[in-house]
Amino acid sequence: MDTPEQRIKIAVQKTGRLTDHSIDLLERCGLKLTQSKDQLFLYGENMPIDLLLVRDDDIPGLVSDDVCDLGIVGLNVVEEVRQKLLADGRKPRFKQVFELDFGHCRLAIAGPEDTDYRGVDSLKDTKIATSYVSILRNYLKEIGIEAEPVYFSGAVEIAPKLGKADFICDLVSTGTTLAANGLVELETLIDSEAVVIQTQEALTDEKQALVDRMLQRLDGVLQVRESKYIMLHAPRESLAEIRALLPGSEAPTVMPLDGTDDKVAVHAVCRENVFWETLENLKQAGASSLLVLPVEKMLA
Ligand code: PRP
Ligand code: ZN
Repeated sequence: MDTPEQRIKIAVQKTGRLTDHSIDLLERCGLKLTQSKDQLFLYGENMPIDLLLVRDDDIPGLVSDDVCDLGIVGLNVVEEVRQKLLADGRKPRFKQVFELDFGHCRLAIAGPEDTDYRGVDSLKDTKIATSYVSILRNYLKEIGIEAEPVYFSGAVEIAPKLGKADFICDLVSTGTTLAANGLVELETLIDSEAVVIQTQEALTDEKQALVDRMLQRLDGVLQVRESKYIMLHAPRESLAEIRALLPGSEAPTVMPLDGTDDKVAVHAVCRENVFWETLENLKQAGASSLLVLPVEKMLA
């Protein structure tokens, strides 16, 4: 039986836009989880990996302080914590190891619809409400604009209505929140998505091996999301043209077809989505018996 010290702890957002995706992703890596009664802890049944469910803003700190070995969190939060630590003269002790391609959003400055906005100069001597004070401060410094970040821990979008700020700087994903509050997006500071961060403390060899194994599985899960297995028959003479039409495939398997010399079977993994247009173009190039299958698992 492994001791708690030998188990890997992964910090995951407790409730929010990344929660379901993060847990789903780890389960698709083969991890079976049981929920504890207090719901703050998910126990890994088949691997020595447990999840800690916490506020997203706390995740970089937990990984930096080595309470957790890994964390899944938005790049926006990682950047805010990193820039805050650096501003305080401290060193962030976590490193980003993986981009997860979900939870896409951007940190943007927005203002009331009726603002007469003429570029960043309009931000001069204004108040900007945000939970991302460090990123905003550095951005303003970079563009040479003096403005005052006003810290809000949540509900940033109501600050202009309350007369607490002229603009806001907050996450925008679909834009629904901005629209519902009569705000328009004006400047983008950073593009964000979910990432995996790892502590910079050296792990034991066993733990590091397990982390590497999980990261390799994650890579496989991410790759198959878009990947398709495609099978078709092709005239030998159009093989070059057909290969060029297969989206994101490296080396297809080409096999002779029984009873014919001028036709071959082609099997390929396409690492991009295969659209109807692609199939129509392949048919046009002479392909027949086209079959596209989803890929369930992949290990490079
Ligand atoms: C962000 C942000 C907005 C909303 C924007 O909060 O603060 O409220 O999402 O999304 P939309 O453009 O799709 O409407 P989030 O849910 O990430 O919560 P948090 O900032 O409290 O962690
Ligand atoms: Zn948050």
